[in-house]
Amino acid sequence: MRVVLGVAAGIAAYKACELLRLFTESGHEVRVVPTRDALRFVGEPTWAALSGNPVTVDVWDSVHEVPHVRLGQRADLVVVAPATADVLAKAAHGLAGDLLTNTLLTARCPVVYSPAMHTEMWDHPATRANVATLRERGAIVIDPAVGRLTGADTGPGRLPDPAEIFQVCLRVLSGRPRDLAGRKVVISAGGTREALDPVRFLGNRSSGLQGYALARTAVARGAEVTLVAANVALPDPAGAKVVRVESARELRTVVLDASADADVVVMAAAVADFRPAERAESKIKKTSAEPDAIALVKNPDILAELGEVRKGVPYPKVLVGFAAETDDVLANGQAKLARKGCDMLVVNQVGENLAFGTPDNAATVLVAGGDPVEIARAPKEDVADAVWDLVAPRLS
Ligand code: CTP
Repeated sequence: MRVVLGVAAGIAAYKACELLRLFTESGHEVRVVPTRDALRFVGEPTWAALSGNPVTVDVWDSVHEVPHVRLGQRADLVVVAPATADVLAKAAHGLAGDLLTNTLLTARCPVVYSPAMHTEMWDHPATRANVATLRERGAIVIDPAVGRLTGADTGPGRLPDPAEIFQVCLRVLSGRPRDLAGRKVVISAGGTREALDPVRFLGNRSSGLQGYALARTAVARGAEVTLVAANVALPDPAGAKVVRVESARELRTVVLDASADADVVVMAAAVADFRPAERAESKIKKTSAEPDAIALVKNPDILAELGEVRKGVPYPKVLVGFAAETDDVLANGQAKLARKGCDMLVVNQVGENLAFGTPDNAATVLVAGGDPVEIARAPKEDVADAVWDLVAPRLS
């Protein structure tokens, strides 16, 4: 595929070198179009060597090739990383003073912006308005990550991990529609840990991969994503707001709070049904020869609670559960769908080497009032997109 990588004048320009490599190493043809000031951060020879293509910043080079029109017209994807407040403003207003902004005006392919700037600039009403305009016109704008910025300050404004920006771009290139644009989506992922004492817990084998794939694909389809992650050791998906939790009760608080105005809630987390009745303040010692039995109490059923809550309020519009089953997969799933009051239940068969921790998944989606839909074994991102294909039509 033909990709134009726009690079604006931000310190995060050096991270775009990594993004460029990910594109070229996976066989994409990349033309890098920096702004003139971006070259103060990373020079032209670096972009030329890494892309294997000439690099120009203005419309007066190689005029016979009409580059200001040609690059945008021929691209399958334009990604601007980092996108500065200045470039977002120019793009929102249709200014065309250099090759990058000309390319943005002539491109008819999907455009992805990955902004990076100081928090004050990101939060400024002018930038907010420009981002809203670009999104309304169909661009994907990846919210910046939260963390250390240039200098000592921290906050929203960091360029996300280039590998994660790359994942969003790949999903956009896969041609899925932007049918979650403007939708608020809450996804839980991972597995809860229920503490026995300060060092031990009862947990499960959920890796969080399927929930993270749901988050990535939802961002690429234009959604505003809150990802509630229970004990997941994976990089944050670009553009998602990640909230970390440990126990079922913490997960419940965060999910219920985020769901109050959400269009879609997907409970992909493996939530412990029980927790130890008591959490010892100090590490439990091996005092007697025979261990004490661990007394358990029931955890709240978050999905069932959401199913109840929305009987009285309009949110969430679509509620999706996951079900991990080892036996009688479909019969158990149908009973669960009814019991939990959700619109869809994505049923996986789990067990040794199935689903947990693997990059692939297969599922049957049980749909309230409809026929089950089979999702053939595929990468978890494709399974996630198949779920969104079923969710999106229910939102309109
Ligand atoms: N779930 C939840 N709260 C719980 C348990 C599960 O919100 N305390 C959600 C899970 O996130 C998932 C769905 O309910 O979306 C089904 O989870 P599963 O573990 O398969 O179902 P259980 O209700 O635990 O039923 P069982 O253990 O009997 O199979």
